[in-house]
Amino acid sequence: MIIRKSPAEIDQMAEAGRVVAEVLALVSEHMQPNATTAELDAMAEEHIRSRGGVPTFKGYRGYPASICVSPNSMVVHGIPGEYELKTGDVVSVDVGVTLGGFVADSAWTFPVGEISAEAEQLLQACRAALEAGIEQARSGNRVGDISAAVQRSAEGAGYAVIRSLVGHGVGRSMHEEPQIPNYGEPGRGPRLESGMTLAIEPMISAGSREIYVHDDQWSISTSDDSLAAHFEHTVAVTDDGPRVLTAPAGVGAGLLR
Ligand code: MF3
Ligand code: CO
Repeated sequence: MIIRKSPAEIDQMAEAGRVVAEVLALVSEHMQPNATTAELDAMAEEHIRSRGGVPTFKGYRGYPASICVSPNSMVVHGIPGEYELKTGDVVSVDVGVTLGGFVADSAWTFPVGEISAEAEQLLQACRAALEAGIEQARSGNRVGDISAAVQRSAEGAGYAVIRSLVGHGVGRSMHEEPQIPNYGEPGRGPRLESGMTLAIEPMISAGSREIYVHDDQWSISTSDDSLAAHFEHTVAVTDDGPRVLTAPAGVGAGLLR
């Protein structure tokens, strides 16, 4: 069942989304050599709680941290720890915040210092794929229109779409219907209607589209250890078109544009 939200509920999700965006901006300022991923997690949790929110991921199916931090060939669900960032890394950071009963979910892949031209292109392509998907989040379209737009954008740039991980509806729960694959056929799947709130999240690779789960049972990497990128926004389908609820805001937002 797809749960549509009222305009007031969407505004509440945007409040949660603002905190998510603030956290991403804060973390982006600390994407520096020798910072540990555990330090990023600690500052994220502190910021979320200072805003009256709860880190949605913490305790979800036993997940032990507030954010996911996934360097280089790691696609998603990296558990923060002793890993030290180094110049040239690309680091995917995924943040979920629950505020006023609603969840917002967003991710961004950041460079650490100077990165290779290849890595820079990968990040740009993943951002562009997310934008292409968001553009299709319109009443009357179908989920497949989002999926196909993401796939066309990413594959057109020469990257592989990771198929076994999907976007999702989001609301009072982090994961609601529908699933939103990052590949598919235009005109297929559930019809989009005003009030739907969707986490659109392309995950792409510079090599293989296959993945494996690490021994920690959370971290997921590309099977050939090629670089990966992940960009995600929580988006509402409205009568006025797509509304991004996790848009960059607040201190340091310039770094996210
Ligand atoms: N954004 C991710 C998702 O949609 C975050 C999940 S991390 C978890 O699945 F720890 F909460 F599972
Ligand atoms: Co998500």
